[in-house]
Amino acid sequence: MRTVVCVAALLWSAGCVEVAEERAKNEDRIGRRAAHGLTVQVDEGLAAVRALEADRVELWAQAPTLTVRLTAAEAGPWTLDLRNAMPDAVLEGAPARPIGRSVPTHRSWRVDVPAGETTLRIAPPDAEDPSPWTFVAFADVQDRLDGVQDLFGRMATEPGVRFGLISGDLTEQGDASTLRRFQRNMETLPFPLFATLGNHELGADTASPPFHRLFGRGSFSFAYRGVRFTLLDSASATLAPRTYDKLDRWLAAGRDDLHLAMMHIPPLDAFGLRNGAFASRGEAHKLLGLLARAGVDVTVYGHVHTFKAYTNVGIDAYITGGGGAIPERLDGIGRHFMTFRAEPALARIVPGVVRIFPAD
Ligand SMILES: [Fe+2]
Repeated sequence: MRTVVCVAALLWSAGCVEVAEERAKNEDRIGRRAAHGLTVQVDEGLAAVRALEADRVELWAQAPTLTVRLTAAEAGPWTLDLRNAMPDAVLEGAPARPIGRSVPTHRSWRVDVPAGETTLRIAPPDAEDPSPWTFVAFADVQDRLDGVQDLFGRMATEPGVRFGLISGDLTEQGDASTLRRFQRNMETLPFPLFATLGNHELGADTASPPFHRLFGRGSFSFAYRGVRFTLLDSASATLAPRTYDKLDRWLAAGRDDLHLAMMHIPPLDAFGLRNGAFASRGEAHKLLGLLARAGVDVTVYGHVHTFKAYTNVGIDAYITGGGGAIPERLDGIGRHFMTFRAEPALARIVPGVVRIFPAD
């Protein structure tokens, strides 16, 4: 959990907030691009537009369901490559022919785009199914990327998993080549991973890290099968003011559903002595108060390289930092990931832990 200087409470200043705000401002541009007579806009910025070529668009999804708005100067066929997709995603809204790809989470279509405005919806058939289902969560792979297949291999055998969530620190330095290597490793998985970033992703450019271009936004929210998911960029040990503005809307949207909130650095130190927490305890209480009053059911964090189940302001909380980075000594945990079984009809999310051996 080696952290940026902002994390040290004694050194905290308005500078941390300014960096977070600048990063949040920059990420608002993610999900939009125009070139070659085509404008692409993904609702809520839930996918990064990684390429917009003369006849091809490549998106990296950060949610199971996307609404993609196209404005074309002229009618014509475009190839839409969707990476990190639900393997059974279906495209509706324009005539489209699926193109076979070898990676399960790479969905591709040749789309006949008419002139003018077109709205595409890309979603798996079960997007509204209220029956029980499973997702996984983990964090803090960092310098253990070479061993991440131990984790992914075990995850891939977990029955019924629809997607995974990463609560930050995918890599050690957050550079583009390592993030790409992480994404290549993800190709062995039969489901996508939606990620927020950690302090290790900030690298040399804390306001515009490569994570933004390769994965997408650090703060975003989506709903799937009776559960709202809100992922928040707490990599600078604070939330940006403009993220709080969005959070109000997301909390309102999830008020009647199960709601899981995820961020890298926990608002409060779960251990009491570690300072693995927000720089301001005042802000931590403010944020947790917002989540509690909105009926958030589960919070999931990373940053501390262990597992801990506890509660914060009455909300079930989990630290799952067992992705492979140097583990806590003598805690008996080691590498692990979490499973969550969502049971919307019973209004509950049931957690589990899967340990990976060798443990360190
Ligand atoms: Fe961290």
